[in-house]
Amino acid sequence: MSDNVLLAEERGSVVILTLNRPEVMNAFNFILLHELKEKIEELRFRPDVRVVIIIGAGQKAFCAGADLKERITLSDVQVKEFIFTIRNLFTSIEYLNKPVIAAVNGVALGGGTELALAGDIRIASLNATMGLTETRLAIIPGAGGTQRLPRLVGRGKAKELIFTGKRVGAEEALQIGLVNQICEQDVLLDKCMEMAQLICETGPIAIEQAKYAINFGLETDLTTGLAIESNAYWVTIPTEDRLEGIAAFREKRKPVYKGK
Ligand code: COA
Repeated sequence: MSDNVLLAEERGSVVILTLNRPEVMNAFNFILLHELKEKIEELRFRPDVRVVIIIGAGQKAFCAGADLKERITLSDVQVKEFIFTIRNLFTSIEYLNKPVIAAVNGVALGGGTELALAGDIRIASLNATMGLTETRLAIIPGAGGTQRLPRLVGRGKAKELIFTGKRVGAEEALQIGLVNQICEQDVLLDKCMEMAQLICETGPIAIEQAKYAINFGLETDLTTGLAIESNAYWVTIPTEDRLEGIAAFREKRKPVYKGK
């Protein structure tokens, strides 16, 4: 089934996933959706993998959204299947038990921006353009965009971007909080790796619990969110890593965490 549409490279505890359909700006067809889904589920159960970076192949695009050449061949039911699959896939990325960094290395439109939104941290190259352009095709963002964009940049800005379908460049994306950082394209992966390495120095269970607390806590009222945080904290208390962190501090050395 594989046409190498998804590449996976392991650098220590970091996995770099490359959407590899540069001839169509790394747009998602069914094959790429299924391969990414399979890979994410595999990574979920790889305790040795601490961070996932997602990038697009080539210099031009992160991902141009749904493959519109495939789309034109699909029946209405198949379009529904595509949307159902991509929405669930991006949700599984959002709730992956380890951080996901989107390396937005060029065009990220429609599902491309939605994929970046499902990540935890977004770093974009200066040539990046992002946008939820679906309304220009008389459809709406269907892979979480109507929900995640307003949660990230506020409802006013999100409505402006979705209603106009306009694209923003890297500088504006940074200014509105759509991305965390911007940089030259040739150092984008290095910047993402730097961020990933910092994360790799932390306790794996702590990161999993912090992500859980942020993701679930933000979707509720403060009191419930604080209760979720409290429970997430309790998970870290009986861990070997917590004792290792304190011991390393006392012994003035770097901690060695095992995720236990
Ligand atoms: N699906 C399928 N093919 C796509 C694609 C997509 N989403 N986006 C780009 N491509 C293809 C183009 O058709 C072209 O292939 P061709 O050479 O066989 O014609 C190739 O990728 C290069 O794209 P091109 O349009 O020539 O490059 P560009 O730099 O001028 O523009 C985009 C790039 C991404 C801005 C433009 O292609 C575009 O607007 N694509 C649609 C993006 C979109 O609306 N996505 C949301 C889908 S819901």
